[in-house]
Amino acid sequence: MFGYLTRRNFLAAAPSAGLALHSAASALASPASELPALLGGPRAKRGSFDSWPKFDLTEERALLEVLRSGHWYRSEGQVVRKFEAAFAELTGAGQVLATCNGTAALIVSLNALGVEPGDEVIVPPYTFIATVNAVLRSYALPVFVDTDAETFQMDAAKLEAAVTPATRAIVPVHLGGNVCDLDAIGAVAARHGIRIIEDACQAHLAEWKGRKVGTYGSTGCFSFQASKNLNSGEGGAVLFNDEDLHERAYAFHNNGTGLRKAAGSFGYSSTGANFRLTEFQGALLLAQMTRLKGQTRTRSENGRYLTSMLREIPGIAPAREYAGATNNAYHLYMLRYDPAAFAGLPREKFLQALNAEGVPASSGYSPLNTQEFLTRAIDSRTYQRLYPAARLKQWHEENQCPQNDKLCSQAVWFTQNMLLGSRGDMEQIAVAIRKIQAHAAAILKA
Ligand SMILES: Cc1ncc(COP(=O)(O)O)c(C=O)c1O
Repeated sequence: MFGYLTRRNFLAAAPSAGLALHSAASALASPASELPALLGGPRAKRGSFDSWPKFDLTEERALLEVLRSGHWYRSEGQVVRKFEAAFAELTGAGQVLATCNGTAALIVSLNALGVEPGDEVIVPPYTFIATVNAVLRSYALPVFVDTDAETFQMDAAKLEAAVTPATRAIVPVHLGGNVCDLDAIGAVAARHGIRIIEDACQAHLAEWKGRKVGTYGSTGCFSFQASKNLNSGEGGAVLFNDEDLHERAYAFHNNGTGLRKAAGSFGYSSTGANFRLTEFQGALLLAQMTRLKGQTRTRSENGRYLTSMLREIPGIAPAREYAGATNNAYHLYMLRYDPAAFAGLPREKFLQALNAEGVPASSGYSPLNTQEFLTRAIDSRTYQRLYPAARLKQWHEENQCPQNDKLCSQAVWFTQNMLLGSRGDMEQIAVAIRKIQAHAAAILKA
């Protein structure tokens, strides 16, 4: 019988006490004789994966303290300021500005860097819609660079071809907590004098060459929305290493009033909006941050362990990391699925079978660059007024990302909370996939 493989019974069955990781992978390669759950067999995953969010008295006390203080707004209290200092310390940033969400962090960055209507901003098509919406809110032209399907990140080798004299910024997105090739992107940006806005909304504590992401660009943007690895329900932050840029961003996020205003005046220094974080969210973030390093370590260890098993399974290709990526934050565990190695079982059916095994999985993003909302925006009267007709025609002609289209049809995601449990959890994911593979033809017929 191909029973459940816990670390304990796995080790007990091992021929020697010094069992190496690769032995775990090869043991999981044995044929799965148990029926998949979809065909009436037992679920590969016993119990459930770790729940999210996590909280205890630390959060309860922190929130109550703000409540009872009566200082609920950042200019009356100290909590958001404390969070900004703590996040700067944690990431190594020179300055941090908390914002009400990650979308606002991107909008504030674009504004502080002077991105205006008529400018072009390079973006990846494999990202959450907010990356592109922030560019559209600035009435800049989003120009898509295809995805490196092996890593799920912007393909830096295709970046230079997308640069035009109007390009003002590049927004690399560290998708899923994996890290973009910041060396290659940085080289193109430096050659053309273009600013980098890192979208690190999914990449808390991810690292490139030992330094935290978000500190490589002119700005680095984070989200603390409920699903994120650092969570205050809603929330965001921008990282800087430039006091003047921080001041401009602060003013813009605070309806035009900067930190350097004269005492006793509103001291408007720019236009702006209200993108402030509340003291309640700041308190929640400080409390959640007490767990962030430990959780990040657990996800990294489990992610690597899962990869050591899944890469042995034909037809399963876990997202590769670039050599400079020294820490993957695993907001998502991402892989490509090839039906050919599963008797032609379509991805949707594979996902259904995984979910039946107690392993929640999804198909991730669909191609963003060709969605109707976007082509409508580019064809709008506003964009026609702002950009030469020839440029918009060229945009349509060149807006093709074939690798990304393919990736969107192959991707499978697991969420970050699934990596917060034990190594046994990881083994049960691998067992579930093995079982489905061994019975793929039967599942296809059912
Ligand atoms: C890659 C990416 N960029 C931007 C955002 C926007 O963040 P928020 O939802 O906090 O506005 C998100 C979050 O959902 C994201 O995943």
